Amino acid sequence: MRNVLRRRYLVPFALLVGAGVAGMLAFAPSAAQASAPNGARASSGALVSQVSNTSQGIDKPGAPIISYKTLPKSYIAPGEALFAANCASCHGNDAAGTALGPNLLGLGSGTVDFWVSTGRMPLEDASAQATEKPPKFNRLQTLEIAAYVQSLAPGGVGIPTVNFAGASVSSGQVLFTLNCAACHTITGAGDELAFGAYAPSLHIATVQQIVEALRTGPGDMPHFGPGNITNAEARDIALYVHDYIQHPVNRGGFGLGGIGPVGEGFVALLLGVGTLMLVGYWIGDRA
Ligand code: HEC
Ligand code: HEC
Repeated sequence: MRNVLRRRYLVPFALLVGAGVAGMLAFAPSAAQASAPNGARASSGALVSQVSNTSQGIDKPGAPIISYKTLPKSYIAPGEALFAANCASCHGNDAAGTALGPNLLGLGSGTVDFWVSTGRMPLEDASAQATEKPPKFNRLQTLEIAAYVQSLAPGGVGIPTVNFAGASVSSGQVLFTLNCAACHTITGAGDELAFGAYAPSLHIATVQQIVEALRTGPGDMPHFGPGNITNAEARDIALYVHDYIQHPVNRGGFGLGGIGPVGEGFVALLLGVGTLMLVGYWIGDRA
């Protein structure tokens, strides 16, 4: 066994350790993502607790599967002021649209909530696709803007609250694979689509944003009405994305950031080749 300590082992051994550590670092989730509550978009906690106890769109048991928030009338006036200052230049004062931005009438508070809470709006530069960025407004301001637009015209999709009692993560997995994975990939990491569009990562979307996206179909994403995906199915998908994709359970070791079989296989290959080299040297030495 004293041979094991010979200097020639140091090279493959250092390679092995180096590859393993580099692999884990490279594929670990970013610090910002890991430190955000629930791995999801952070919202301003203090304000939210005043506004609603279901800010992440998760309801207590006993409620309907998906219910929609009724926003207080007192939100409309401050929402109108925020809209005039931040949105009207493109969407018009009455939200009926201009050459720079589409008509928002009748889209509902949930559509406005999705675009504002994911940071897509207000648009900064007219790119092919409005991109997610840190939201400009806190939760209360976002709900005020949504209340104002909702007050101008009825209809559209409201801001959902999801009751997870009885939800099934395995049904969610099947539905996600069938309906979402083609664009967002099976790990939810997102992917390039045709014509310069891309399906974003699902790793920071809140439950509310997942259901809003599914029901409203932002940009190039198709919209799924209750005839395609029932409320119970939407709930199962939201559970799967929120619990499984965003918080994978890694039985038996490091998760490597849940980046999927290719990356994980690569790290396994490096570790395996390093180990084989060590064993090979050792056997050669003994002989
Ligand atoms: C610089 C111009 C601009 C500003 C400012 C702006 N928008 Fe937009 N908005 C757009 C454009 C362009 C689109 C279409 C983007 C797309 O489809 O990717 C859009 C899309 C939207 C949509 C989705 C419409 C649909 O049919 O699904 C909503 C909702 C929205 N904006 C709300 C807002 C709100 C609320 C604000 C203010 C906080 C705002 N926007 C500020 C230009 C703007
Ligand atoms: C045809 C491709 C396609 C399919 C299928 C699809 N999406 Fe999307 N999805 C997109 C695109 C494109 C966007 C970005 C839209 C934009 O920014 O204009 C998006 C955005 C989203 C977002 C917003 C993410 C964020 O944090 O900003 C969520 C959540 C989402 N999709 C969930 C789903 C779910 C759940 C399903 C299945 C029920 C699904 N998508 C099916 C293409 C798709």
